[in-house]
Amino acid sequence: MTEIPTETLVTVFGGSGFLGRHVVRALARAGYRIRPAVRRPDLAVHLQPLGRVGQIHAVQANLRYPASVQAAVRDADVVINLVGVLFERGKQGFEAVQAEGAHTVAQAAAAVGARLIHVSAIGADPDSPALYARSKAAGEAEVLGTVPDATIFRPSIIFGPEDDFFNRFAALARISPFLPLIGGGGTKFQPVFVGDVAQAIARTTGGQAKGGTIYELGGPEVKTFKELMEYVLAVTERKRLLLPLPFGLARLQAYLLQLLPTPLLTPDQVELLRTDNVVSAAAIAEGRTIDALGIAPSALEAIVPSYLWRFRKAGQFRGRVA
Ligand SMILES: NC(=O)c1ccc[n+]([C@@H]2O[C@H](COP(=O)([O-])OP(=O)(O)OC[C@H]3O[C@@H](n4cnc5c(N)ncnc54)[C@H](OP(=O)(O)O)[C@@H]3O)[C@@H](O)[C@H]2O)c1
Repeated sequence: MTEIPTETLVTVFGGSGFLGRHVVRALARAGYRIRPAVRRPDLAVHLQPLGRVGQIHAVQANLRYPASVQAAVRDADVVINLVGVLFERGKQGFEAVQAEGAHTVAQAAAAVGARLIHVSAIGADPDSPALYARSKAAGEAEVLGTVPDATIFRPSIIFGPEDDFFNRFAALARISPFLPLIGGGGTKFQPVFVGDVAQAIARTTGGQAKGGTIYELGGPEVKTFKELMEYVLAVTERKRLLLPLPFGLARLQAYLLQLLPTPLLTPDQVELLRTDNVVSAAAIAEGRTIDALGIAPSALEAIVPSYLWRFRKAGQFRGRVA
């Protein structure tokens, strides 16, 4: 893509995360000035090579500290909030980060007259049994209540080289004789490629999406949890037992697993798995999908084998090294 240098300044909260680095790369390619706003700028040096000299300048910000958020959006034309947490730790609670934090960003964006792009998640629902999903819904309400023409994206699970989902289960298959099918494995997902989500956000930064709208982002395939586990095993060429684990039992296990420094599973995540994670019929009917932004989403098969091959047994790799 030809780079079009622009004076537009984009503040990206959560720019150092999995989706963040792909968003920063897509914005850099489009020529924007980018200000990743991160808790530890010293840990965001990997973003620097994604742009030309001086194009990317990280600053310190924590959504739980409004003054740092206000400083990070100074002079920004567009503000993107990618911040989210998968589990709670100390002051990093779902409400504090995903609801109150979203409000803090929206208020700061409104104060400087910047456009706002906010990333939520499919399943965001004030009535969800999962606190994660309720706090995402509260965050959306805070965003649209403060900046009515904000654009919100709700992705299904996001896949890509550094993802949490496929890498986690491929790593588990390496050491465990079985993979758990939580709730029987019937929950449906519509995995979407991180590069496509980043592209959707970059296009919205350029004004190509509707304001005051919630887009739901899914890939071309809907698969059950069981089918995704079968896919992980096929790609990594491993034979493992797929063990159905009723929700109640999974919840009990999750009470223990959540105590790990990086929890393998939490009771709240088990609750999330009770609901399908796919683009809704309403979003399709109303054109609030990734296709509406002119993006043909990538299939799992085109991307996942390129990074899961390393989980095969030593010496088994027979593919191409890109
Ligand atoms: N990955 C998925 O499958 C998926 C699916 C649906 C929706 N989403 C949503 O997409 C967004 C990005 O997800 P991701 O997968 O890229 O997550 P990630 O890799 O965990 O990135 C989250 C980012 O948020 C930052 N952050 C956390 N707490 C913060 C705070 N108090 N103040 C400032 N920054 C803070 C993290 O920075 P630190 O390094 O400082 O912690 C990190 O840069 C999230 O909103 C997530 O809920 C993701």
